[in-house]
Amino acid sequence: MTFRLRFLTILLLLTLPAFLFAADGQTLFRENCKVCHGKGSKNGVYTPMSFTQDQWRRFFATKLVPSHKSAIHPVTHKNLLEGLTPAEMKALQNFAVDHAADSEQPATCG
Ligand code: HEC
Repeated sequence: MTFRLRFLTILLLLTLPAFLFAADGQTLFRENCKVCHGKGSKNGVYTPMSFTQDQWRRFFATKLVPSHKSAIHPVTHKNLLEGLTPAEMKALQNFAVDHAADSEQPATCG
């Protein structure tokens, strides 16, 4: 392997996990939250920018489970909460907190 190629490979391996993780939370949010809270939704329109970082932390800690216990995912037709692993929940929370109204990069979920 040439030095240049080896350098590029290492660079790719170092940046890939961070990239995948970031994409993951956004994709999860789009597929599991936006499906019911997109533009014009009667359930309320929510994107990461809808709340502050503290409000999102509180939401994931205390509100999400009681208010979504009987939520059925419109695409998979499975119970929303049962369909998400603890790691996916964490990624969703991180995405919402990282892009909250008072974060450095407020964002919708695209
Ligand atoms: C199957 C549709 C559905 C999905 C998927 C869904 N929600 Fe909801 N959500 C609702 C409904 C219906 C309500 C209203 C519940 C109520 O009024 O008690 C609600 C309420 C809320 C509220 C306001 C009430 C509260 O508890 O503070 C927030 C914020 C919220 N959802 C965020 C989310 C997030 C974040 C996700 C993704 C992890 C998500 N929702 C996924 C249907 C859904």
